Amino acid sequence: MKTTTVPSTSAPVAHNAMPPPPAASTARSSRVAPHSHIKGLGLTPEGLALPDGAGFVGQTNAREACGVVVELVKSRKFSGRALLLVGAPGTGKTALALAVSHELGVKVPFCPMVGSEVYSTEVKKTEVLAEAFRRAIGLRIKETKEVYEGEVTELTPAEAENPLSGYGKTVSHVIVGLKTVKGTKQLRLDPTIYEAMLKEKIVVGDVIYIEANTGAVKRVGRSDAYASSYDLESETYVPLPKGDVHKRKELVQDVTLGDLDAANARPQGGQDIMSVMGNLIKSGRTEVTEKLRKEVNKVVKGYVDQGVAEVVPGVVFIDEVHMLDIECFTYLNALLESPMAPTVILATNRGNAIVRGTTDVVSPHGVPVDLLDRCLIVKTDTYNREQIAKVVQLRANVEGLKLGPGVLERLAEEGERGSMRYAIQLLTPASILSGLAGRNQIEVDDIGEMNELFLDAKASARNIGSDGGFDGGRM
Ligand SMILES: Nc1ncnc2c1ncn2[C@@H]1O[C@H](COP(=O)(O)OP(=O)(O)O)[C@@H](O)[C@H]1O
Ligand SMILES: [Mg+2]
Repeated sequence: MKTTTVPSTSAPVAHNAMPPPPAASTARSSRVAPHSHIKGLGLTPEGLALPDGAGFVGQTNAREACGVVVELVKSRKFSGRALLLVGAPGTGKTALALAVSHELGVKVPFCPMVGSEVYSTEVKKTEVLAEAFRRAIGLRIKETKEVYEGEVTELTPAEAENPLSGYGKTVSHVIVGLKTVKGTKQLRLDPTIYEAMLKEKIVVGDVIYIEANTGAVKRVGRSDAYASSYDLESETYVPLPKGDVHKRKELVQDVTLGDLDAANARPQGGQDIMSVMGNLIKSGRTEVTEKLRKEVNKVVKGYVDQGVAEVVPGVVFIDEVHMLDIECFTYLNALLESPMAPTVILATNRGNAIVRGTTDVVSPHGVPVDLLDRCLIVKTDTYNREQIAKVVQLRANVEGLKLGPGVLERLAEEGERGSMRYAIQLLTPASILSGLAGRNQIEVDDIGEMNELFLDAKASARNIGSDGGFDGGRM
């Protein structure tokens, strides 16, 4: 069997270099996790809301209204406008925004932020907004690249004595076997590629590809052949690749303009540990200048003109929009008018409020009227017990929790007194309590015990004395 060597990744970062996955993206995805049961708006082809569809229960008016917005966006008639969701906490505003982004297509960027995020000591308020908008514009890049692709049949790191320490061993190279329908090939790879494989958690039986000239490793999924032995829901199974292991392949990569800005703003010093540490200490946050954005735009435009890349406008979601101030609102007006604006969704639970940054301008939702005039306003309603029970059951399924008799009814009751979010939120701690009791199913007793251990918002408020302090003033 022939062994091939693939070079390592240490070329300097070029202007068009693909950024590493940004650290921020993990934080953002965790903010979306409570909505993992939401797959879309759940509308019929005629745009009517199913009582229960795509993970969405009830809220039919708001869902149908959002469906209209999706149609407007798709037919490019929504530019310069925004969708404003108003309603009490826990009525599904964030869930609706996420569903709209799902309806716009697969891999459409969704960039959630909270109004108060703009108040940072390091970055200008308007910069924070501009950055969010850039993160909501995707770029789908298609490139034909030379790759090694196949199912991993072997993954053996070869160790050598560490020449520096005398103790311990380092990986000198790694032998990887790749299998396709046509044949098998054994590759001898650089240790940096082995690290990349460890990071992607690649094991025997995964289908992967390695880019020949950069050494970048990508896990495609798990090979079909293993489908019966593992029954993980989160796993994607893929067929054994056809053709040769070493071939040219069209790769699709999704990045956002924000990623490109950040990758190019980062000081491109050496790759060694000291310069990486230096960068961490020197700059809390890297500055993305307007000039850099223009540069990136120029490169992107070049790609689009050549037909290599395609712009995918996404969704920027600004929660608690009443936290923005007048300065941000005027800037938001300007951003809405830019030709490459993403779909903008705003949310708030405020009624009439003073616009932040002014002393006397009172406006609905704390949003100035000139912005309100650009908005389609959709109201979310509160839920009844039956609807809360359905959503709690959905969440229990997603989180893999079993509910004993009566638990659903009990949680729905709690949700009706508190909110939908409160009912859902009780699930996880209750499952811990049932686990401690040695059960694998949540019982009504667990919910009872929860109520002894913790207070809900209203009970907590009752504990506070009329002077605003806790009873007895023993704080
Ligand atoms: N109609 C609904 N169907 C299914 N899940 C819902 C619905 N409304 C809210 N949820 C879920 O309830 C929780 C709270 O809703 P969320 O969208 O965060 O409320 P808001 O943003 O209005 O405060 C989330 O986990 C959300 O996915
Ligand atoms: Mg929300």
